[in-house]
Amino acid sequence: MRNFTSVHDIGDMNLALQNAKFVKEHPYADQELGKNKTLLLIFFNSSLRTRLSTQKAGLNLGMNVIVLDINQGAWKLETERGVIMDGDKPEHILEAIPVMGSYCDIIGVRSFAQFANKADDYNEVILNQFIQYSGRPVFSMEAATRHPLQSFADLITIEEYKKTERPKVVLTWAPHPKALPQAVPNSFAEWMNAADYEFVITHPEGYELDEKFVGNAVVEYDKEKAYRGADFIYAKNWAAYQDPNYGKILSTDRSWTVDSDKMALTNNAYFMHCLPVRRNMIVSDEVIEGPQSIVIPEAANRVVSAQVILKEILKDL
Ligand code: CP
Repeated sequence: MRNFTSVHDIGDMNLALQNAKFVKEHPYADQELGKNKTLLLIFFNSSLRTRLSTQKAGLNLGMNVIVLDINQGAWKLETERGVIMDGDKPEHILEAIPVMGSYCDIIGVRSFAQFANKADDYNEVILNQFIQYSGRPVFSMEAATRHPLQSFADLITIEEYKKTERPKVVLTWAPHPKALPQAVPNSFAEWMNAADYEFVITHPEGYELDEKFVGNAVVEYDKEKAYRGADFIYAKNWAAYQDPNYGKILSTDRSWTVDSDKMALTNNAYFMHCLPVRRNMIVSDEVIEGPQSIVIPEAANRVVSAQVILKEILKDL
C-alpha cells in the first residue's frame, strides 16, 4: 500500500478484516517491520483518539513516532499559491511538506474541511498536497471528506458484534451546536456500502450527503421507520452538504437525539458513535451508558485499524 485515504485503498476487505483479527490477537508480532522507521503524525485539528491510537499502532510496530500540532508551536502555514506573504503566516506549505517528509518514512495527516470553499474541501487540497510533495506514503487521519481509519474501526467493530451475516445498519443524523464536516458520515457510508450490509441513512430534509458516498444506501426521512429492526444505530452530526447551504446548521431538533424510546424500536441494536460525543444532544446518558453501547470497544479498535494500515504501508516501503 502506498497511500491510504479511503476504502478504495484497502483492497480485499475480507483480507483486511483477517489482518485486523491477527493484529488484535498479536499486537507485537511485527515489531521488526517498523524498526528504525519514523512515523510523523501531523495535526491541523484537535484529536484524542486518532492521536493516541495511531501513536500506539506505530509503537506496536516498533516505529519511532513524532507528533506535530501545526497550530501549537509550528509556524502558521500559508496554503494558497500566489499569495503575497505579508500577513501572519511565515511559512508556505509547499516548503513545509517536503521538509517534513525528509524527517520521516510515513506521514499521517489530519486536516478537516474548513467550509470556506466547498470545492477546496471536496478536492482534498491539503491532503493531496502532502501526497504530491512529501515524497512519502501518506495516510488520512481524517481529511475534509473522509475518516477512513475511523470507518475501518467501525467495520471491525460491527463484524465483532453482528449476529447475522448482513445486519441492518442505520446511520442517523443527530443535533449538535456547531457545524461539523461530513467526513465521518461520508466515510462510514462508503465502508458500509463496500461491506454490503443492509444500510439506511436517516436525517432531516436538507442534510442530504453527496450521492457519491450515499451509494446504494436507502435514505429514509422518517427516523422511526429507519430505526425499526436495526441491528446497529450509528449516530453522527453533520452540517449541510447541498448548495446553497454548504457548511450550515439547518436544524438542532432534539427529537433526533438517540434515546431509549427510539432504541426500543430496534432489534436490540448496538449504539455506535466515533466520539467525542455531546451527551443529550447526540445521545441520551441512558443510551450511551447502557448495555448496548459499544462506543468504547469501537474506539479501542482504532489502534487495530491504524496498525493494519501502517503494516501494509511498511511492507511496501
Ligand atoms: N473519532 C475520532 O477521530 O476522535 P478524535 O477526533 O478524538 O481523534
